[in-house]
Amino acid sequence: MGRARMTWIGTSWKMNKTLAEARAFVDGLVAARSALDGVRAFVIPAHTAIAAVRERLPADVPVLIGAQNAHWEPAGAYTGEVSMGMIADVGATLVEIGHSERRQHFGETDETVALKVAAAVAAGLTPLLCVGEPAGVRAAGGETDWVAGQVSRGLSRLATPDLHKVVVAYEPVWAIGDLGREAQPYEIAPVMEMLSARFRPAAVLYGGSVNRRNAAALLGVPGTDGLFVGRAAWDVAEFIELVRIAACACHEGRADAR
Ligand code: PGA
Repeated sequence: MGRARMTWIGTSWKMNKTLAEARAFVDGLVAARSALDGVRAFVIPAHTAIAAVRERLPADVPVLIGAQNAHWEPAGAYTGEVSMGMIADVGATLVEIGHSERRQHFGETDETVALKVAAAVAAGLTPLLCVGEPAGVRAAGGETDWVAGQVSRGLSRLATPDLHKVVVAYEPVWAIGDLGREAQPYEIAPVMEMLSARFRPAAVLYGGSVNRRNAAALLGVPGTDGLFVGRAAWDVAEFIELVRIAACACHEGRADAR
């Protein structure tokens, strides 16, 4: 594709990892430090581990740190919530917004997602806006319109110049988690190309049952700037393996890498 952009490769730990486990992961990153230079790597711990990861990670190891969620209000009577400013304060520069598990279990809507995307940008954070269609929409062939609608509504509170500050992750609901089905490149290509061409965000990532076997092929889908990985990256050695695949795809030129 001829673009000089570095490939993104990151993981959200979801509701996993104690502080000791989080620190051990960071130690694994540091041990594999040289592998990280060719990619834009990120790790998204649970809120409880963000500060520990920030403190353990040397400043010269190029790994971005994110949070899995934050509220849109800067402060106030919102028991159990944390603000964008709070997660920035403990070391996050990215914030995941609208993951399908939050939409499904915690009542996230396109409207709360839009509020959070705007609040993240206002706080100087990079929103990682997660979108994706459920299986029924895919079965009816409506995925591209569904995802375009989610992104349009999620970005609706941003000023136009800020649109390029957002990273979009396309994660079809049917592809995520233990019950998920691995997507084939041809299944995601129209959506990835639409996201890249229509919204021109900072990056478009793919997520959902990504692993070391399918990573290179998924990275080869036009419009794909990187991968967002759950289970297959929670072991640091596996994460580093994915980093190596992403670096290789970047250096060789994605279209020719396979
Ligand atoms: P998975 O999760 O890789 O375990 O399917 C992906 C995600 O939820 O982002």
